[in-house]
Amino acid sequence: MKPTITPHPEPNVTIVAGMQWGDEGKGKTIDYEAKDAKLVIRSTGGSNAGHTIIHNGIKYALHLLPSSIANPKVKSIIGAGVVIDPECLLKEIWRITGDSYVIKDNRLVISDRAHVILPFHKSMDKLYEELKANKVGTTGKGIGPCAADKMNRVGIRMGDLKHCTESELRAKIKELIKVPNDLFSLYGYPEWKITEEEMFVKCQKYKEILSYLIFDVQPIIAREIRKSSKIVIEGAQAFSLDIDHGDYPYVTSSNPNASGLCSAAGIGPTQVKCVIGVIKSYCSRVGEGPFPTEQPDQTPEDVGSIIRELGHEYGTTTGRPRRCGWLDLMQLRRACEVNGVTYLCVNHIDTIGLIGQKVGKLKVCYTYDEGEAKYVTFDHSGWEIPKNCTNYDELPNEAKKYIEYIERLTDVPVKYIGIGPEDKAMIVRQDV
Ligand code: IMP
Ligand code: MG
Repeated sequence: MKPTITPHPEPNVTIVAGMQWGDEGKGKTIDYEAKDAKLVIRSTGGSNAGHTIIHNGIKYALHLLPSSIANPKVKSIIGAGVVIDPECLLKEIWRITGDSYVIKDNRLVISDRAHVILPFHKSMDKLYEELKANKVGTTGKGIGPCAADKMNRVGIRMGDLKHCTESELRAKIKELIKVPNDLFSLYGYPEWKITEEEMFVKCQKYKEILSYLIFDVQPIIAREIRKSSKIVIEGAQAFSLDIDHGDYPYVTSSNPNASGLCSAAGIGPTQVKCVIGVIKSYCSRVGEGPFPTEQPDQTPEDVGSIIRELGHEYGTTTGRPRRCGWLDLMQLRRACEVNGVTYLCVNHIDTIGLIGQKVGKLKVCYTYDEGEAKYVTFDHSGWEIPKNCTNYDELPNEAKKYIEYIERLTDVPVKYIGIGPEDKAMIVRQDV
């Protein structure tokens, strides 16, 4: 007799991924998409990410907690692919709850497979940067060294904190700190050396406070997939920072492209319903690396600083001023292709209008000529978004032309348009 096989559940996973170099404003789209979702899964990166969300008028600056954390109707998951700095996590939990480490209603679950960043990973991050001829300009949060330990198969995972006996955990710590301690001695930083005892005490503290949040998240995700519940995967960083598809070596140490996000969350590709690619109306980058449309400071037009000031382009995580430049559609086209983007979200349409007003024109890169950006110029003096604008048709004509030019060159429809920092300042085109 043939076995009865339950048909594949209808796919209902939405991936929200950054298409440029990060800081595209993914938090707001995730917040919007999470309104009718069951789960939101943060799946890659760590506290190198920084996103600000404004939910019901309250501003939250987050690094590790999923953007949905302020929404009581959603279960937020920190997935297997995230590298977790427990110190940062504790601070964020403290801030979001008011003054405790207790997140109520099972609203947050942390994968037992996620790796732990310990303080010496940050020292290693500094040391590696110092030794490199071509600096990456990392955020210094210990992301790369923790990912390297994971790949070397000596990392400590959140599940180890919860389940290991004292002697098991001590053995793991001993193995993990051996090479860093040797390197700190070798390169003249003996004061950075760490002891097994110091690390063990920290791990004990994390175990005591965080164990109630640490689980195997696979059954939780599988249950919702079986019911075709809506699941949102929250990207961190972005396509051009992807370790395989970005501007190597000026990249982060994970795969923040759509397939990488899916894999890190523990979800198969057949369950994905759509990929939302988030961009800004211009480009910004923190850290080193190629940036074809960059407008360096101190040029006569000073476009870079105009963009930075009008877009408030200073890093949420490090406070560094971001490098700024015009929108790069060559870069975006490639990003849309590799990520299989279904819809685009174009943020800062208000800001680019103001930039136009100040500069007297707008430029967009449509091709490269031997690596040099070639631009189309929009010769007009920008726009202002009308108050209480909620509909695409109410946007100024020049803004619509700008958006439609992006659609034409990428062949991807723009469904979401960010017109301000608040969670409500987004136009959603229902007909797209
Ligand atoms: P890391 O991820 O700290 O190792 O830094 C590697 C590169 O990625 C550096 O250029 C960082 O500035 C950049 N980066 C990492 N996370 C973010 C982010 O969330 N937004 C923007 N850039 C980031
Ligand atoms: Mg950011």
